[in-house]
Amino acid sequence: RPRVLSGIQPTAESFHLGNFLGAVRQWVDMQETHDAFYFIADLHAITVNPSAADLRRRTRVSAAQLFGAGLDPERSTLFVQSQIREHSELAWILMCNTGMGEAARMTQFKDKSAKYGESSAGVGLFTYPILQAADILMYQADFVPVGGDQKQHLELTRDLAQRFNSRYGETFNVPAPYILKEVEKIADLQDPLAKMSKSSSSPQGILEVLEEPGPLRKKVMRAVTDTGSEVVADPENKPGVTNLLRIQSVLSGTPIPELSARYAGLGYGAFKKDVAEVVVDAFAPIRERTEKLLADEAELDRLLAVGAARAAAVARETMEVVRERIGFLPKL
Ligand code: TYM
Repeated sequence: RPRVLSGIQPTAESFHLGNFLGAVRQWVDMQETHDAFYFIADLHAITVNPSAADLRRRTRVSAAQLFGAGLDPERSTLFVQSQIREHSELAWILMCNTGMGEAARMTQFKDKSAKYGESSAGVGLFTYPILQAADILMYQADFVPVGGDQKQHLELTRDLAQRFNSRYGETFNVPAPYILKEVEKIADLQDPLAKMSKSSSSPQGILEVLEEPGPLRKKVMRAVTDTGSEVVADPENKPGVTNLLRIQSVLSGTPIPELSARYAGLGYGAFKKDVAEVVVDAFAPIRERTEKLLADEAELDRLLAVGAARAAAVARETMEVVRERIGFLPKL
């Protein structure tokens, strides 16, 4: 079985529809066909210095949501990144093989640091993509299912793998991104040219997995649509309608042209009502299962410990080779 690996940051109380469609749904599907490793990227989350209580809480909510969304602890290895110390160790080694210019080209760093101001942005934000490369290469992943915003980080990961292999000898598998075109960028409902994002300007633009049906429906009904009344996919002229069509299409398994035909002459109102329903139907069971899992913290932590044990075995094996290739003396 080919190996798949991916991670998600515990940066908010709930994942949003972009995370779910762009990544998590593929994680659930791929556990059937791949050797699956997934993790909660708490090391990445501390680049923006959350409080300890927030981080603990969000890490558990994230784990519960991923199980709630359908990750099966028998078929997937789900773990918490910080519990596998090797990630930090490999990140350092890769940093020593990364150019300043190469790291500085990463657009996510540019976006985030712009928010903080160039010189007060943390160094962790700058080295963030190198830690991500370490996450991926550690598990010798073949495929990395992510949204389109991670493309550049995957390119860097591939470059670092190839560089390490040619400097020190064949060590890492060179991974490929796994990105589904129709869902690679789910847009903000209030600003259909921007991606749906935790740091978006208005909560009205984000559909949260753990939200109640009422607010979810309201947000979809108030989503920015476009001039005209035709329900057709046209990313250039109708980005708002196109985004909603994509959402409904993947969640209901109905091709977009079929949806367009269904709403011909009915206008945006009827269309949005149905979009809201498919979202509510997708999220409600996840929310319920998440709440149940959160009610038993000890059991949740136990499941994560099982995942950590499996992940640790792979990480230890990779690092043994890496340390030898680099020339670190073995500890007797
Ligand atoms: P994060 O936590 O920001 O997002 C998790 C996943 O959701 C995808 N995503 C989207 N997809 C479509 N449309 C959107 N609007 C949207 N918003 C988010 C992201 O592309 C991602 O796949 N750096 C990563 C976490 C990470 C990681 C890794 C991923 C750390 N190490 C190793 C893969 C492999 C991140 O910040 O994702």
